[in-house]
Amino acid sequence: MNSTHTTTTAGPSPAPSATIHRHVLFGAAITALGGLLFGYDTGVISGALLFIGRDFPGLTSFDKELLTSILLIGALIGALAAGRIADRVGRRPTVLGTAALFVVGVLLAAFSPTYWVLVGARVIIGIAVGSASMVVPLYIGEIAPPRIRGALVSFNQLAITTGILASYLVDYRLASSENWRLMFGLAAIPAILMFIGMLFQHESPHWLVAQGREDEARRVLHSVRDQGAIETEVAELRELSTHRSSVREVFNPALRHVMTIGVMLAVFQQITGINTIIYYAPTLLSSAGLGNSAALLANVVNGAVNVLLTIVAIRLLDRTGRRPLLLGGTAGMAVAMALIGLTFAIGGGQLHGIAAYVAIAGLLIYTGSFAIGLGPVFWLLISEIYPVKIRGQAMSVATMANWGANFVVTVSFLTLLSAIGNAGTFFLFAGLSVVALVYFQRQVPETKNRSLQDIERDLDLPAAVTGEAARVISS
Ligand code: BGC
Repeated sequence: MNSTHTTTTAGPSPAPSATIHRHVLFGAAITALGGLLFGYDTGVISGALLFIGRDFPGLTSFDKELLTSILLIGALIGALAAGRIADRVGRRPTVLGTAALFVVGVLLAAFSPTYWVLVGARVIIGIAVGSASMVVPLYIGEIAPPRIRGALVSFNQLAITTGILASYLVDYRLASSENWRLMFGLAAIPAILMFIGMLFQHESPHWLVAQGREDEARRVLHSVRDQGAIETEVAELRELSTHRSSVREVFNPALRHVMTIGVMLAVFQQITGINTIIYYAPTLLSSAGLGNSAALLANVVNGAVNVLLTIVAIRLLDRTGRRPLLLGGTAGMAVAMALIGLTFAIGGGQLHGIAAYVAIAGLLIYTGSFAIGLGPVFWLLISEIYPVKIRGQAMSVATMANWGANFVVTVSFLTLLSAIGNAGTFFLFAGLSVVALVYFQRQVPETKNRSLQDIERDLDLPAAVTGEAARVISS
């Protein structure tokens, strides 16, 4: 990374005015409903599964696993398609299409006449989840002023964690009525709000400049930037967008470094075990000897810790920077996983008395550490480190890697537990967290308080993309 490079816009940008704040905040809040739906739809299935069999008798455990994991496959497809669509037709239509897909998917799920219609609905919801997971940070990252970009993009992570917690609470509340259809259907409310809210939002100014639509970009920038910064930003974006975007550029050898960082962050975010905790914590705790209700309670507390520590991260990201939170958080995850492994190693797979408390403490420390670091920082960094002209497609690659790794870990977790035991599995996650820590320490750049254009220049990308390599690729 070229850290000596300086430009006219390097350094802190001026504080945005209150009106600008309002516009940007509203845009970020509307799109972050996509994050809420991401969290809710991935979380809601655990409770709904208990009652689906009532309407569709004879479901096997494979049928249930399929219903759960098919969403992840849909998400892979959604992430793949959304980047290309967002670079082609714009960020705003992509968000609108995503919201429409959510509405269709959740209503279809709520009214499914057969099991297979429900499976189809989960695929549609999955496509929407995958698309939202990349286009929301992409859009927010491009409308946000650099100074508060970390906090705003991480609204998305806050929305994801809130969605997960909301799904636990809805499942819990509706459990007595066994109304799994309502559990799915309630998600139509934020989906419709997202669609309507987005109708009143502007297209991303970065995308507009990349399309040569500078006058429109200026009009948008007037509502999201201070007056003085607009012309500089348009000029910088113009300079960085001179070449036609091509999907092959994502594989341009000159971009390998930055593509690798995004994919590694994506894979590490998953293989360090977060979703084994999010999806299986109650199962794990109750099978280790904790009562069912204590296990569910621990799960809700864990969901709340996830939300609270994400709020702390939002307050800190633009002050301390991304790296200290990422490194500190990942170190915390390693220690916590080792602690959980140790309680299982000592208790021989069973958790009694003090060991149960230590394991729950480990669980909460783990989730809190994820929430303050790798959770938000992964989505934030992938919205910051790619060149504007291929940003959508490059984010798609990282997002797909994230969903792919999520799928692999989720489907193999129970097998892993029986193959190497509870203790072995958690020690493995601890070890992987240490590997992640070393990688992050060596490779991940600090992006705090820098314009996306400066980050692009610092990573030496224009030379890579607009130079000889790009000429070869686009010829
Ligand atoms: C991850 C999800 C995870 C969630 C938990 C997100 O950043 O991408 O896989 O379920 O955080 O809070």
